[in-house]
Amino acid sequence: MNKHKKILCIGAGYVGGPTMAMIACKCPQYTVTVVDINPERIAGWNSDSLPIYEPGLHDVVKCARGRNLFFSTEIEKGIQEADIIFVSVNTPTKSFGAGAGMAADLQYWEKTARQIRDCSQSPKIIVEKSTLPVKTALAMKRILTAGDKKKQFEVLSNPEFLAEGTAIQDLENPDRVLIGSDETPAGMKARKELVKIYANWVPEEKIITTNLWSSELSKLVSNAFLAQKISSINAISALCEKTDADVTEVARAVGMDSRLGSRFLNASVGFGGSCFKKDILNLVYLCRYYGLEPVADYWEGVIRINDFQKERFVLNMLNTMFNTLAGKKICLLGFAFKADTGDTRESPGIFISRKLAEEKARLIISDPQALENAKHDLKDCAGDIHYEKDPYAAAEGCDAVAVITEWKIYSELDYERIFSSMIKPAFVFDGRNILDHSRLFDIGFNVFPIGKPPLTHFEEYV
Ligand code: NAD
Ligand code: UGA
Repeated sequence: MNKHKKILCIGAGYVGGPTMAMIACKCPQYTVTVVDINPERIAGWNSDSLPIYEPGLHDVVKCARGRNLFFSTEIEKGIQEADIIFVSVNTPTKSFGAGAGMAADLQYWEKTARQIRDCSQSPKIIVEKSTLPVKTALAMKRILTAGDKKKQFEVLSNPEFLAEGTAIQDLENPDRVLIGSDETPAGMKARKELVKIYANWVPEEKIITTNLWSSELSKLVSNAFLAQKISSINAISALCEKTDADVTEVARAVGMDSRLGSRFLNASVGFGGSCFKKDILNLVYLCRYYGLEPVADYWEGVIRINDFQKERFVLNMLNTMFNTLAGKKICLLGFAFKADTGDTRESPGIFISRKLAEEKARLIISDPQALENAKHDLKDCAGDIHYEKDPYAAAEGCDAVAVITEWKIYSELDYERIFSSMIKPAFVFDGRNILDHSRLFDIGFNVFPIGKPPLTHFEEYV
């Protein structure tokens, strides 16, 4: 019955590519085609060097590519042939006009909706995979059904919860799959079609269904809660630094309360990534739109604390290194917004590099996967900036090393070797608390973790 069902995904990015590869791998009875306006991305998906770095992704792509998984730039053809269309285009924060800097920029998404309408000749299920403001499905339906050709479309919301770096695990074994639909007979029928796809590998009790608006809102709220947890511990890290408490110990004590949970309590240099800030801004915008000022202010605080944390990190470097960084050589270990990805969107590394360059520091940026993106992010940044993949070469001759990304390799480096190649006094700023601080101190470093007392060899340190 399903033999000839055709799935199309519009948008071959961090979500579209891995998600569709997993569906194709788990559901050989469906033909899955992923299309994009970017021919380089599509060429990448069709090659051995995939356009994104994600552990395990290669194997999943290889399992289905050429069998029932195809990557193409033929968007119109794909639309015509598809029974089910996932829309996974980007929805960045609007940079112009009303809502600039807050609301979601829906131009890519709307263009896609119009293209689906114009190219369709048969009934289709349209699935919102992108993260969208509440009530977008309504706008989608209005666009799809506008004009002379009244066609049959059912719109579902199926937000994606994967995290980069663990996308394959998250897709293979999700905490939940959320499907929102109209609660009409046609909506329920479409919902069943989508449940049937996921039920090929996801236990049914993990597939939850809601109305459209709850589904759209749940995605924004999930990201807001996760980011809020990080901002909460980061706010406390600032207090720990003033009171000699240790943020890791506090997080452990707090996180053992099963009502709170221990995950997402790692104090850091600040959260990054393409979605947390964008989705919270979107939530804030919605609250303001509906006149809920105190609610908007509450969620905006999560972003304010994140900005504060990034600024604090740079100021701490400046103050600690005798209030001048001019001409000093600083090695940044990591630039990706988190480990196990090459993605640098909204990475704290961008802010920190720019601030250090403003202070006229000389920067050597190292990262196992993100150097190309780093160069792109900093291309307009005037300053003495170099890129070096090898962490030992990057740290050589530096006054300070700062850990920006929690790549495992950085906790396994030979720090004696690094220390001996650095200018003295040598500083370490551990923006992820992944290093063995007392060992680094014993080697001779002056060590500045997040939310913990510093370990220094200076006689008096205030
Ligand atoms: P991305 O930028 O990596 O990919 C989006 C792709 O859509 C790009 O390749 C772009 O060329 C393509 N595109 C844009 N307009 C198009 C059009 N009209 N026709 C065809 N292709 C078009 O973005 P992403 O990270 O995959 O995110 C996509 C959506 O998923 C966003 O709404 C995001 O909030 C959400 N999301 C992302 C993640 C994540 O980890 N990155 C996780 C969950 C949800
Ligand atoms: C996040 C969510 O975890 C996903 O569920 C969601 O689907 C996705 O956003 C999205 O909508 O795009 P992602 O941004 O890929 O995923 O990665 P996270 O693991 O959530 O990390 C986000 C940022 O928070 C990173 O910079 C990370 O280093 C930081 N972080 C995370 C901390 O600083 N401390 C922590 O304890 C955890």
